[in-house]
Amino acid sequence: MAAAVLVCRPACVLPRISSSCSPVVLSAIPVTVQQRTVHHAVIPRGKGGRSSSSGVAATVFGATGFLGRYVVNRLGRMGSQIVIPHRCDQYDLMYLRPMGDLGQVIFMEWDAKNKDSIRKALAHSNVVINLVGREWETKNYPFEDTYVSIPQQIAIATREAGITKLIHISHLNADIRSPSKYLRNKAVGETVVRDEFPDAIIMKPAEMFGREDRFFNHFANMRWFGKAVPLISMGKKTVKQPVHVVDVAKAIINAIKDPDANGKTYALVGPNRYLLHDLVEYVYAVAHRPFVPYPIPRPLYHLVARFFAMNPFEPWTTPDKVDRFHTTDMKYPGLPGLEDLGIIPASIEQKAIEVLRRHRRFRFLEAELADTKPAKTVNY
Ligand SMILES: NC(=O)c1ccc[n+]([C@@H]2O[C@H](COP(=O)([O-])OP(=O)(O)OC[C@H]3O[C@@H](n4cnc5c(N)ncnc54)[C@H](OP(=O)(O)O)[C@@H]3O)[C@@H](O)[C@H]2O)c1
Repeated sequence: MAAAVLVCRPACVLPRISSSCSPVVLSAIPVTVQQRTVHHAVIPRGKGGRSSSSGVAATVFGATGFLGRYVVNRLGRMGSQIVIPHRCDQYDLMYLRPMGDLGQVIFMEWDAKNKDSIRKALAHSNVVINLVGREWETKNYPFEDTYVSIPQQIAIATREAGITKLIHISHLNADIRSPSKYLRNKAVGETVVRDEFPDAIIMKPAEMFGREDRFFNHFANMRWFGKAVPLISMGKKTVKQPVHVVDVAKAIINAIKDPDANGKTYALVGPNRYLLHDLVEYVYAVAHRPFVPYPIPRPLYHLVARFFAMNPFEPWTTPDKVDRFHTTDMKYPGLPGLEDLGIIPASIEQKAIEVLRRHRRFRFLEAELADTKPAKTVNY
């Protein structure tokens, strides 16, 4: 944070008397020169609630997305100042404004390809969080830009601004050998961020579930296409370990508070592993809908997904998404996880109902969750 020199005067007196008083009287008024190294917004004070100051001034890139709203909410409720760079209309993100105290949530337009705009967005922050992501490529933003160039520019700008906390969100299955281009670029992104900012905190969440997710909702919505769910090898060769979005948001907040988190990579997963088949079966059981899976060969699934991918707005699926969802979640026994950040991960049995109630028919809207058998877990 740039040093600011504050000149403190008895402000209510000075303007009134300055015009009428002689220079002798004026020179007798005490003028104090203070050296301040931090902005007043980042001096912690208060009891830790929304109207106190946590000492955190965070720029959250990608705050308008699924994970973003949970991160902003958690930052706001502990009394942080939050800068939200956005590219959409301001009215489209008004739901974020009440998440922080008056004047603490600051919106500014940014252009991810403009380095100055990145610098401006983080100039007054002491924490930078990068949540930028997109499930599909566009003409303007291929995965190389979204997951490599933009994170690299954010890391460079963060380092140059002298900020010590950078949190970068990658993916659990980021791997340079992955069939998914998204995951290959995520792996490269991790490397460039680490190179540019060795102390960055890299978080690798598994597929996240939550009210606005594109995982449980995606499978539940498949019933619109012929009331049956296509799964490669019936989903019996893919193991998934989904994590609740709120746990990931909490992990980000706890990593901000933990001075030992710098430079670490975290693998964020849920408490249980499931076969994709059993997971989707559970989704349909909670939604009180019949589950009719059928096996589909990968090339045929890709062909169908390519048709959906032609949608210029928000493609419902893409060949890349098919590959990503049918990739078994990696295990990282050597990496710290949610527990190391003091979080007990929530299971799908506890939280899936929040996502899936809206997929129930009216008759089952209030049906007890206890009626549904928990999903079978696996330990490989
Ligand atoms: N969702 C998951 O299950 C999951 C799992 C593992 C890792 N992740 C990673 O976690 C991060 C957050 O995920 P999410 O689900 O919250 O993503 P999301 O809902 O797709 O939101 C992505 C955010 O990035 C912004 N963004 C994307 N491309 C941009 C660009 N070219 N310029 C400026 N802003 C851009 C979006 O802004 P607009 O609103 O303007 O488009 C949005 O705010 C991503 O990096 C994602 O890859 C997600």
